Amino acid sequence: MKTRLLILFFAVTVTARASESATNVEYSGGDTTAFDATRNAFSLAARNLLPAHHTTYTLGSFFFDESWLAATTTPSDRDGLGPLFVARSCFACHVRNGRGRAPDSFLPTDTMVVRLSVPGVGPNGGPKPEPTYGLQLQTHALPGFKPEAQILGSYRNLSGRYGDGEVYYLRQSQFRLADLGYGPFQTNAVISPLVAPAIIGLGLLEAVPEKTLRALATADQQRHDGISGHVNLVWDVTTKKFTVGRFGWKAEQPSVDQQVASAFNGDMGLTTTLYPHENNTDAESRFTQSPSGGSPEVSDEIFAATVLFSRLIAVPARRDATNEIVLRGEKLFHQLNCAVCHVPELQTGAVPGLPELAGQTIRPYSDLLVHDLGADLSDHRQVFQASGSEWRTPPLWGLGLVETVNQHDQLLHDGRARGFAEAILWHGGEAEKSKEQFRGLPKADREALIRFLRSL
Ligand code: HEC
Ligand code: HEC
Repeated sequence: MKTRLLILFFAVTVTARASESATNVEYSGGDTTAFDATRNAFSLAARNLLPAHHTTYTLGSFFFDESWLAATTTPSDRDGLGPLFVARSCFACHVRNGRGRAPDSFLPTDTMVVRLSVPGVGPNGGPKPEPTYGLQLQTHALPGFKPEAQILGSYRNLSGRYGDGEVYYLRQSQFRLADLGYGPFQTNAVISPLVAPAIIGLGLLEAVPEKTLRALATADQQRHDGISGHVNLVWDVTTKKFTVGRFGWKAEQPSVDQQVASAFNGDMGLTTTLYPHENNTDAESRFTQSPSGGSPEVSDEIFAATVLFSRLIAVPARRDATNEIVLRGEKLFHQLNCAVCHVPELQTGAVPGLPELAGQTIRPYSDLLVHDLGADLSDHRQVFQASGSEWRTPPLWGLGLVETVNQHDQLLHDGRARGFAEAILWHGGEAEKSKEQFRGLPKADREALIRFLRSL
C-alpha cells in the first residue's frame, strides 16, 4: 500500500514538472533542466535521468574527465593516447563541461583546437587536408615524437563608437604557427583556431527533427529581410551519406557519437570503431611504429558511455527571467531580430532509447543553421556547405553562467570577444542590421539586452 502511494505521488510530481517545463521559460532544457547557478552549473546530469542510465552516465563522466595514458605493455582501459595529440582528456578543453578560451598574448593555446586545410575539396566533400599537417594541428606528442607545431595568439584593439558617442574597443586576434616539427606549411593553407564550446543539452539539440531545421531555413528564404540561414550537409561516417550537420562551430558533425569519435581521434589520438585508424592521414607512415592501446583503443563500451554522458548533461535553468530589466532586454532581443537566428524555443521529437530527451520544449536560442556573419568573422575555411564566413548560430542557453563556471567571459568561435557587447559588435553579414541597431541603442537599452543574455 505504502509503495503504491509513493509511486502515485512520484507520477504526479513528474507530470506536474513536465507541464511546467513546457510553459515556464526558466526551464531552458525542458525536463532535463537543473537548478544550479554555481561553478557546477554545467556538471549535472539531466534532472529526469532515468535510474537505468545512472551507471553508464557516471562511467562516461569518468572517461571524459580523466587523462588518457600512453600505451604500454600492460593493458589498460584508458591507454592509447597519441602518439600526437592536443590534450590528454576531454575535460582539459571542456573545463567543467564548459568553454575553452583563447590564449593570453604570445602564449600557446591550451583549450582550443586548430583546424587546417588548403583550398579545394577533400575526402567525402569535406575540407582538403594540408599535405603535411592534415586537418588539425597536433600540439603535443608522446616522448620520442615531435609535436606538429605550437600556435600563438596575439591581439590588438580596434576602436569604434556607439550611436551615443561612447567609445568601445574590439579585440582582434591573430594566430601564428611556431616550432613547425615536420617541415614547411603550404603557403596558401588556412588556420582556424576554435575554442571548445560548453557541452550542455547536446542530446536535446540532436533530437530536434530535421524537418524543423529545414522549415526554419525555408522561413528565412521567404522573409526577404537579409537573414538566410541554411543547413550544412555533412558526411555521416556510419550511413555513408550526406546529412544535416548540427555540432561544432560550423555544424560539421551530424551527431553526438560522430562528434565524440572524432574528438577521441583528432584531439587525443585514440581509435574507436567509428574511426579505427590513428588520425595521421597527414603522413601516415610516420607513426606506424607507435604502440597501440588495443583495437580499437577506446572500447565500444567506454565509447557508448562517453556518448551517453555527452548527450545527457543538464541545461541550467534561467535566473531572473521575470526581472523587469531582463524582460525589457528580451523585448529588444526580438525587436533587433536576434531571435530570427537565435530561435528561443524548439521542440524535440522521439529519441529511441533516451526518453529523457523526447517531446521536450527546449529554449536553446539557436536555429542550428549556418549564417554568413561577414568578412570580419571569417576564418576563410570552407567546411562542406559552410563558407569561411558562415557559422552555426550558437545556442545561447547557459551563456550567463560561463563566467561562473570557467572564470572568463570570452565569446565567439575563437574567443576574441570579451563579453556580450563585443560579441554582438562583431556580428556582420546577415546580422549587420541587428548589430547596427544595437550600436544605435541608448546605453540603458544596451545594458538591458545584455542583462537578458546574462539571464540565459
Ligand atoms: C583540444 C581541445 C578539445 C578536446 C581534448 C576535446 N574537445 Fe570537444 N570540442 C573542442 C572544440 C574546439 C570543439 C568545436 C569543434 C568544431 O567547431 O568543429 C569541440 C566540440 C565538441 C562537441 C560539440 C559541441 C557543440 O556544441 O557542437 C562535443 C560533444 C565534444 N566536443 C565532446 C568532446 C569529447 C567527448 C571529448 C573527449 C573524447 C572532447 N570533446 C575533447 C575542443 C576539444
Ligand atoms: C544572422 C543570424 C544572427 C543574428 C541576426 C544574430 N546572431 Fe548572434 N550569432 C550568430 C552566429 C552565427 C554566431 C557565431 C559567430 C562566431 O562565433 O563567429 C553568433 C554569436 C552570438 C553570441 C556569442 C555566442 C557564443 O557562444 O560565443 C552572442 C552573445 C550573440 N550572438 C548574441 C546576439 C544578439 C544579442 C543578437 C541581436 C542583436 C544576435 N546575436 C543576432 C548568428 C546571429
